Amino acid sequence: MIKAITILPGLDKGGERERFDQLNLKAGETVSIVGPTGSGKTAFISDIELLAQGDTSTRRRILINGELPGDEIRYNPASKPIAMITQNTKCFTDLSTEEFLQLHARARKIEDGRIITDTIDLANKFTGEKIRKETRVTVLSGGQTRSLLIADAILIGAAPVIMLDEIENAGIFKQEVVEIIKSTSKIIIFVTHDPVIALLTKKRIIMENGAVIKVLTQNEFETRAAKNLLELDKRVGIIREKLRAGQEITSEILQASLA
Ligand SMILES: Nc1ncnc2c1ncn2[C@@H]1O[C@H](COP(=O)(O)OP(=O)(O)OP(=O)(O)O)[C@@H](O)[C@H]1O
Ligand SMILES: [Mg+2]
Repeated sequence: MIKAITILPGLDKGGERERFDQLNLKAGETVSIVGPTGSGKTAFISDIELLAQGDTSTRRRILINGELPGDEIRYNPASKPIAMITQNTKCFTDLSTEEFLQLHARARKIEDGRIITDTIDLANKFTGEKIRKETRVTVLSGGQTRSLLIADAILIGAAPVIMLDEIENAGIFKQEVVEIIKSTSKIIIFVTHDPVIALLTKKRIIMENGAVIKVLTQNEFETRAAKNLLELDKRVGIIREKLRAGQEITSEILQASLA
């Protein structure tokens, strides 16, 4: 069981040591990672995914529950506690969605067959284009693939650590994803350029030049601002879905979404 992840400082792009002693992420905590393009956000979560031990370009080291991770969890995919879903994640296997999930459930020794439909149902909460169990995973769209993998990470992988790299651009219902995974007692990390997602987390890590330069805890004003922003974003979402469905925006639709 993962109760905490510790990140030990590495070097920025210029080779200077990062200015924090250690960074602890605890189970149940959601964290966002923000910073300009190229500032090292993806590199940061990749370090966690790889359970880096000074052997990546950043030289960071990762501890699990305060200890060095053993080889079993570093190298055996079936005991890997960390799920990372990026914009480019794709499934390369000639299986139907159902077979793909069954294979994973079997590897995780899950007997109850209901987990397959539960996972597809959950994935379908995240995507507008419904996934069917017969669909081959190779023909799923980008948004469907990511929805399926997020649902799979939550239910079948039961990964205690889930990291999502820029899901806002993934064509999925990000608020549903955030709400559902926040209700689990996992460590959740969102790399994001989206203010709504950044403000949905209590902790925010700021990156620059390959280094963590700040760790902020959300202040009260931000917590209130986040509520308003969320409302606004839901309204924009209504319009987005109408546009995606090929509708024209009329004054009635605009009024209704702003009401
Ligand atoms: N501390 C570091 N030392 C050396 N190289 C680094 C460091 N951090 C990141 N890099 C390298 O810099 C490049 C950009 O980093 P990365 O892809 O993580 O940026 P990003 O913040 O995710 O950008 P984007 O917002 O565009 O996705 C990568 O090639 C990465 O390996
Ligand atoms: Mg990136």
